[in-house]
Amino acid sequence: EEEVHQRVHQQCRDLVSSLPVVEGCSYPDLCFHDGFFQPVPAMVAAMMVQKLFEARPTDIILATLPKSGTTWLKALLFATVNRNSSPSSTRNLATLNPHQCVPYLRELYEDGARVPEMDSMPSPRLLATHIPFHFLPNSIVESGCRVVYLCRNPKDNFVSMWHFINKFRKKDGREALPLEVSFDRFCQGRSHSGPFWDHMLGYWKASLQVGGCSVLFMRYEELMKDPVVELRRLAEFVGCPFTQEEQANGVLEDIVETCGFERLSNLEVNKVGKRTLFRTMTVDNNSYFRRGVVGDWMNHLTPDMAQRIDKIIESKFEGSGLAP
Ligand code: A3P
Repeated sequence: EEEVHQRVHQQCRDLVSSLPVVEGCSYPDLCFHDGFFQPVPAMVAAMMVQKLFEARPTDIILATLPKSGTTWLKALLFATVNRNSSPSSTRNLATLNPHQCVPYLRELYEDGARVPEMDSMPSPRLLATHIPFHFLPNSIVESGCRVVYLCRNPKDNFVSMWHFINKFRKKDGREALPLEVSFDRFCQGRSHSGPFWDHMLGYWKASLQVGGCSVLFMRYEELMKDPVVELRRLAEFVGCPFTQEEQANGVLEDIVETCGFERLSNLEVNKVGKRTLFRTMTVDNNSYFRRGVVGDWMNHLTPDMAQRIDKIIESKFEGSGLAP
């Protein structure tokens, strides 16, 4: 197994190193393969996942574009699925960052020298990914497991990403990437796991299909507007519906509160903790909590910029039934 893992990793690395590197609305730079962009180190891992990950029918996969509210959804899902397990230090949202509770597939497969321990993970395995639908491993689609997709208004998504990227650049002693430059690249589709429209459309279409894996399509804005209703929908979809008694006892409201921006961002682990990204970069956990509001793009984008992105969305989504 170790040998296969190492060999496939080497093949993926060789392939990725032959791809041209492009500047994007991202950090580090991107490469393009099979219709989507990824930061170079993430592309190797995405290929590894595609080739080696074997889904179980009970797996629950969270799929998002970065900066769509992944951290929030991870917390909600983890709290929902584990609400009746006895609290232990390793399974506790109060001491762990949501990214430790629901790991990214990428992070499990990115180290060529270490075979991830997937078999020993108890079911249901909660896993996350930014990989576009068409590039998911066949076993995810064929196993019939559940995929929860969370998207966000692309204008807010962009603004959130722009702030995030510049934190890294600053740490590396580089100048901030101007908003206009970033925006132009984003609109050309050159962003992490982009083009954003293909990512959203891929999961949207999959959510309409019958057969294969089932996809629940969620939106950050709806989660914000009506978290209890959305959480109920999420719990039903992943096979952990709330009982009448739980609903009457305010269990949903408790989970919403526990996973709310205020509560999560003020936990010690999220205020001062750090995690590693792409095996080489350090991220402060507090970078995953900036403002957490809908419509922050209005404080950053000019009317012309907003119009440009709206036009892209309109033309790309046309006829798909996906509302902008
Ligand atoms: P902003 O930068 O607009 O504030 P991701 O988790 O996919 O990286 O997305 C990060 C975005 O989700 C950030 O958006 C962050 O503030 C927001 N976020 C994080 N936790 C949240 C929560 N509990 N509720 C609402 N938004 C949250």
